[in-house]
Amino acid sequence: MTPIVALDVPDRAGAETMVRRLGESCDFYKVGLELFSAEGPAIVSWLRGLGKEVFVDLKLHDIPNTVRGAARSVARHGASLLTVHASGGREMVAAAVEGASEGQENGTCAILGVTILTSMDAGGVATVWGRTAVEVQEEVVRLAGLVAEGQGAGIVCSGHEASAVRAHYGSQLGLLVPGIRLPGGDAHDQRRVMTPAAAAAAGARWLILGRAVTGAPDPAEAMAQVRASLAGIS
Ligand code: C5P
Repeated sequence: MTPIVALDVPDRAGAETMVRRLGESCDFYKVGLELFSAEGPAIVSWLRGLGKEVFVDLKLHDIPNTVRGAARSVARHGASLLTVHASGGREMVAAAVEGASEGQENGTCAILGVTILTSMDAGGVATVWGRTAVEVQEEVVRLAGLVAEGQGAGIVCSGHEASAVRAHYGSQLGLLVPGIRLPGGDAHDQRRVMTPAAAAAAGARWLILGRAVTGAPDPAEAMAQVRASLAGIS
């Protein structure tokens, strides 16, 4: 079980502040679209230089050849994890896996598939894909199948879908779960949240910690609480 802190900040100055505050309590960070767009891959190299692991959450979705090249470039900067949209299809996921493998001179980069964005509900998915009715959990499991066929390492899903994906794919797909809150913590704008221990019990391999840690008065202390709640859970 690996906790990852989301650097949801606009620029490197904000990232430096958070990384300094967390110190030794965090060794794995997520760089998302906002920070990557502001600072480019240099932000990944900087974190690697500090000895941190990096998840680059770009949610790539393009033709396979383009995604292969992007994955190769991200991997070359030393990212450990990269996301692509599962709805790009099996060939696109496979191309991302190949690209990441071609760029692994700074370590291996695993490809994770984003299934259904948690901002979308069943009605939204049905509208986008021209369906009359959709059951989100079924769609998540179906899209996870495309990731498995493309040899992706895992998927992003909420803790509430984790058990269904585990039931279908066992340990073939590692699960990265956002929406994590410490017991009694504020859910903010997330509709479906879970504690670290509950997400671990549901089968999560990686946990994304955002405001539960970065918004805490003492982020390092919040991380210590996360680690304490995960103690003894592999
Ligand atoms: O814990 P908090 O709500 O602050 O976390 C927000 C972080 O989790 C952001 O980095 C966001 O991109 C990420 N995330 C999410 N839901 C997803 C995928 C990622 O909230 N389905």
